[in-house]
Amino acid sequence: MTDKKYILSMALAEIKNRRNMAKAENDLHFQEIDKNIPEIAEINSQLARTGMNIVAIMKSGENVDEKLQELKDRNQEAQFLIKRLLVENGYPEDYLAIKYSCDICFDTGFVNGRRCRCLENLIAKMTAKEMNKNSQINLCSFDTFDINLYRGTDMMDTERKRNRMRNTYQQCKKYAEEFNPLLSENILMFGRTGLGKTHLSLAIANEVLKKGYGVLYDSALNYLNKIEKEHFGKASDDSDTLGQLLSADLLILDDLGTEYTKPFYISTIYNIINTRINKGLPTIISTNLNHEEMLKKYDERIISRLFATYESYEFVGEDIRLIKREMKK
Ligand SMILES: Nc1ncnc2c1ncn2[C@@H]1O[C@H](COP(=O)(O)OP(=O)(O)OP(=O)(O)O)[C@@H](O)[C@H]1O
Ligand SMILES: [Mg+2]
Ligand SMILES: [Zn+2]
Repeated sequence: MTDKKYILSMALAEIKNRRNMAKAENDLHFQEIDKNIPEIAEINSQLARTGMNIVAIMKSGENVDEKLQELKDRNQEAQFLIKRLLVENGYPEDYLAIKYSCDICFDTGFVNGRRCRCLENLIAKMTAKEMNKNSQINLCSFDTFDINLYRGTDMMDTERKRNRMRNTYQQCKKYAEEFNPLLSENILMFGRTGLGKTHLSLAIANEVLKKGYGVLYDSALNYLNKIEKEHFGKASDDSDTLGQLLSADLLILDDLGTEYTKPFYISTIYNIINTRINKGLPTIISTNLNHEEMLKKYDERIISRLFATYESYEFVGEDIRLIKREMKK
């Protein structure tokens, strides 16, 4: 089974499960009301008999329309009465209605033969989970972030750098805690190697995933490679990586700038950044390039969007990979 088929079958199973849960809960409500409000139980058993009446009316062939209308009216009156009784007894008036998770497709996953939005969302979320499964996402967290690893040239400089990084850390933590795909901003992390850009991006990814949002994290280079293969029909499966990047709740593009400068990559990067800005979906980009280097590598359309709509954080200090290695000795 391809990944896509597997995920579709998982998503359909989940939707079926939702539907069953909704029905089971509805059964419980009926049992509860049968016990607590006998008048409603009586009305409901009358309504059940209505179903049989309809068959009898159709068979008889006499004044069918008139009789059916009468039944409809009686049914409506009964529903009205049930609502009133529910409210009088302290229940919400729709207590006996089935509560589907999706009001559009009633937890069937389809509307007029097309996939419902809820099914598409589920597929996107499950795809994101699959893609993230193998990444190092679990290793880096806010808890394992250590501010004392940041160093400057002297005590004053160290203090200054730690203050800056402490602020960045707090902003990122707040960002993760308050994450909302419709409201959260875009973040650009830049700075030299080994300063915790990937570490903090993954810490954010972890928190946001825990909240149940779809997060995609990988290096820009990996994504661009995949998209290129899929675009030119050289991929081994029929994934739609670009489509997923354009619609994920949160996209983290790590290490932008390590890819070759070729037109297909530049236009893809532009497409991703621009489309997500237009959709109002948040993106986090990290890069080793400073502003000058970025200006050289990317065209104005990318640069102007990045600088105008991304909150940027400069990572400072000395390479923490080296510092950690030294400390081990
Ligand atoms: N503040 C920190 N506290 C604890 N560990 C850290 C911190 N910053 C970085 N590290 C660790 O140091 C290593 C390098 O950090 P990271 O990969 O985040 O750097 P980076 O800025 O992404 O570097 P590059 O530009 O090379 O990708 C990782 O193992 C990371 O977990
Ligand atoms: Mg990194
Ligand atoms: Zn639906």
